[in-house]
Amino acid sequence: MLFHKSAQSMVALLGLMVALASAHAADPKLANVTILATGGTIAGTGATSTTTVGYTAATVGVQTLIQAVPEMTKIANVSGEQVFQIASENMSNEHWLALAKRVNTLLAQKDVHGIVITHGTDTLEETAYFLNLVVKSKKPVVLVGSMRPSTAISADGPANLYNAVALAASPDAVGRGVLVSMSDQIHAGRDVSKSNTTMVDTFRTPELGMLGYFQGGKPFFYRQVARKHTTETEFDISSLNALPQVDVAYAYANVGPTAIDAFVAAGVKGLVHAGVGNGSLPAKVRPALSAARAKGVVVVRASRVGQGILARNGEANDDELDFVVADTLSPQKARILLMLALTKTNNTKEIQRMFYTY
Ligand code: SIN
Repeated sequence: MLFHKSAQSMVALLGLMVALASAHAADPKLANVTILATGGTIAGTGATSTTTVGYTAATVGVQTLIQAVPEMTKIANVSGEQVFQIASENMSNEHWLALAKRVNTLLAQKDVHGIVITHGTDTLEETAYFLNLVVKSKKPVVLVGSMRPSTAISADGPANLYNAVALAASPDAVGRGVLVSMSDQIHAGRDVSKSNTTMVDTFRTPELGMLGYFQGGKPFFYRQVARKHTTETEFDISSLNALPQVDVAYAYANVGPTAIDAFVAAGVKGLVHAGVGNGSLPAKVRPALSAARAKGVVVVRASRVGQGILARNGEANDDELDFVVADTLSPQKARILLMLALTKTNNTKEIQRMFYTY
């Protein structure tokens, strides 16, 4: 036991010495970038170097991720924190609140210039949009993942991480909202989505367009984001420990009201309808959504199509039904904005304004 305790103290002392050594090694000419690791395939390992499906996500720690890319020390003073170690299908509202609070705390420090968040790709676009709405800083926040585990031949994680750190350290990335950096491309957190189950270049912003490229490890921007974000939003999560329950009901041929009725019975505060086409409401679904609204549930009409503006008063009379439309947001991103909107108001006109603002 005694030995165990002294071994523990030795480890603590060594840790302190490493921390001090790296603090002394910090180059004052370089930006200080903190990597917040949450898990995902970028931290995944497979049984062999050819295992690119059926591997285990979220096994490698943040220090190992950093040590795998020593080139990063030339472009930034990099430090790391393991905030979670999960596959991103398990990302929850509680994870988001904890992550956002940590990001806001770090970015309030003068000696932190940018943040990189390593994340599973499956829900990366959702975390990016959530942070885009609640981070209270103009400093760069960059989400990054990989499609191949760290043990794979041509793993994409190290190059993606290098680019993400370069982006978080870049003055060009300041004030652009939360960014996603994958496969030599820079995307806006609001607009990007995962578009392919397994391909490396899965992150796309097909019609609105990506913001820029990386070339030679340097970011090049070509577009600004038009929608308000970060410091310009009205959302404050600093004192929140939970978010209002909002779910998504999916439409398809032959769909009935079962899912909608179940969500309402479960007490949801908001419901996003992922409708077909321009958000059309099947005849069997419309009465259920209307009844949900009559019970106080805020209903947002979105589309499962993936591109385009959801026309207000187009396929349904939203004024009459007292519904909100999702604008260009995907159902999964509309869910996020609706949760945050419901922390401020139940007024559907106000919530519609938010959907046209963010
Ligand atoms: C995950 O989202 O955690 C697993 C898949 C991935 O990161 O690509």
